[in-house]
Amino acid sequence: MSLTVRAQPSGFGARVVGIDLQQAQDEATIADLRAAWLEHRVVCFPEQPMNHAQLERFTRYFGEFGDDPYVESLAGHKHILEVRREPDETPQPFGASWHSDWSFQSSPPSATILHAKIIPPYGGNTLYADGVLAYEALSESLKTELEELTAIHSARRPYSHEGYERSGGRARSMRILPNDDAWKTQQHPVVRTHPETGRKALWVNPVYTISIEDMSNEASDALLKRLFDHALQDRFIYEHKWSPDMLTMWDNRAVQHCAQGGYDGHRRVMHRTIVAGDMPH
Ligand code: SIN
Repeated sequence: MSLTVRAQPSGFGARVVGIDLQQAQDEATIADLRAAWLEHRVVCFPEQPMNHAQLERFTRYFGEFGDDPYVESLAGHKHILEVRREPDETPQPFGASWHSDWSFQSSPPSATILHAKIIPPYGGNTLYADGVLAYEALSESLKTELEELTAIHSARRPYSHEGYERSGGRARSMRILPNDDAWKTQQHPVVRTHPETGRKALWVNPVYTISIEDMSNEASDALLKRLFDHALQDRFIYEHKWSPDMLTMWDNRAVQHCAQGGYDGHRRVMHRTIVAGDMPH
């Protein structure tokens, strides 16, 4: 088998074939996988019927496990979350607003790895927006202005008790664990420099970025709206279609994502792990 990486036509994202992730990988192959992930930001591996131990082993090729707050993990596998939606569930899907995973943490995860267990016959795609392409398309003057700014991130919208009630948390089949510590805030740069590639990305997201430091509420809301409108244009988005057993891995330091619905009446089950990251600069 030889590893082949096929770039998606969207400008980022790639499909990787010629590898069996049920098997342990050697160091050279792991280095190739890492290079593909860093270059393409979202890489998918079709037809990988992996078990829990194989998913955990694959995750550890890229670093330590990250810390998952606010969601109960799979019994006996504290680093695997089950993203589940039942056919009769009414709240919007988990992760159905644009976000970068756990960006409210001081060191948010570098990678998220999602393995498709049950895929509905239609709907349930995941959208990815590339913060690198979005940053590069900004005017030079706006780039300079944004490099001076710090954003405030918080988990309060989805994971405070109030946010949990508002988003129909009780009606979910996934067990969400709301907590008052979701009100805490975390500062991060608005423009983030990737620690491995050196590329800059626009790094604010509508779920967890609540304001820009040292600005009035009005000015902060207006700037964030302008940045979200820019970052979430079709030209920076790749729509990812799942198939059963597909494994997809993305770089949270460069992209944000948004789960799509459109499959009411059908079950969707994914298993998710994260790799620990470092403090954004
Ligand atoms: C997530 O936001 O982690 C879930 C994405 C998805 O289920 O498509």
